[in-house]
Amino acid sequence: MKQISAKLAGEISLGKELSVHRLGFGAMRLTGDGIWGPPKDRKAALAVLRRAVELDVNFIDTADSYGPYVSEELIAEALFPYPKGLVIATKGGWNRPGPNQWTHDATPDHLRKAVEGSLKRLKLDRIDVYQLHIPDPVVPFEASVETLAELRDEGKIRLIALSNVTREHIERARRMVPIVSVQNRYSFADREWDYVVDYCDLYEIAFIPWFPLAAGKVAGEVLNEIARAHQATPKQVALAWLLRRSPIMLPIPGTSSVEHLEENVAAASLHLTDEEYERLAAVPELVASR
Ligand SMILES: NC(=O)c1ccc[n+]([C@@H]2O[C@H](COP(=O)([O-])OP(=O)(O)OC[C@H]3O[C@@H](n4cnc5c(N)ncnc54)[C@H](OP(=O)(O)O)[C@@H]3O)[C@@H](O)[C@H]2O)c1
Repeated sequence: MKQISAKLAGEISLGKELSVHRLGFGAMRLTGDGIWGPPKDRKAALAVLRRAVELDVNFIDTADSYGPYVSEELIAEALFPYPKGLVIATKGGWNRPGPNQWTHDATPDHLRKAVEGSLKRLKLDRIDVYQLHIPDPVVPFEASVETLAELRDEGKIRLIALSNVTREHIERARRMVPIVSVQNRYSFADREWDYVVDYCDLYEIAFIPWFPLAAGKVAGEVLNEIARAHQATPKQVALAWLLRRSPIMLPIPGTSSVEHLEENVAAASLHLTDEEYERLAAVPELVASR
């Protein structure tokens, strides 16, 4: 049987301070429906996290708002004391009034409380990677970033990152503090943020695509064909495309199932031909022309 290991995706540096395998795990889907409350099957959720680490996944993405709190609590329950080299990247900047509801709060006061809460739930003295989940439209962006810079200086955060941002946000933040990663919605079929990927590539900032397995009908047809040629699954092909898109790409496919996790990590060893890569890259144009 083929080896399944996140190591096969290669390594990526985070701010030249930490190094992780280039296929991580997104822990949002471990919570209840609507990213709310506990999982239906707690044992199964813990098993997914433990299996991810067994498969050499050493980058786990989470947020205080997933559950809220549930995703971070599950990570600590499953994995603490953490294996050496495991990097947990969490986020703050949202409030959760109910299932599927997300309200902004990236005020300095909220971010400070959020970091304290994440430290406690994750049982850490310092968070390796802390991401501003999303700029808050009613809070000056610089005020949110400045707060994270202060928390870094206080030793509560090691590295600072951004999510759901434009290139302008990244440039403004980088004038204040080094930014090690950017997390935006992205897949071969969803390329709104191509220019941000290119910017990250230029400055060696990791790009973490969320919703990496997205694919509409047309995308699905192309995926299926390429998947058949590799005896792979369409999801694996979508991940292989991302891994090939740029060496700064760090996909974090999310799942609540061990079977899907194993399938996703196995994509680390799937290599597309140039032609396959280009066919998938052209899907957004194909969709637009139909
Ligand atoms: N920064 C942000 O604003 C933001 C927003 C959304 C997500 N994220 C992060 O990004 C991570 C990934 O994003 P995502 O969860 O939205 O998208 P995703 O990883 O593309 O998709 C997850 C969905 O696909 C299913 N799935 C996963 N692997 C599969 C497989 N091999 N075969 C069939 N179905 C599969 C999962 O269901 P099953 O559980 O049934 O496998 C789940 O419903 C999240 O976990 C979270 O950490 C960040």
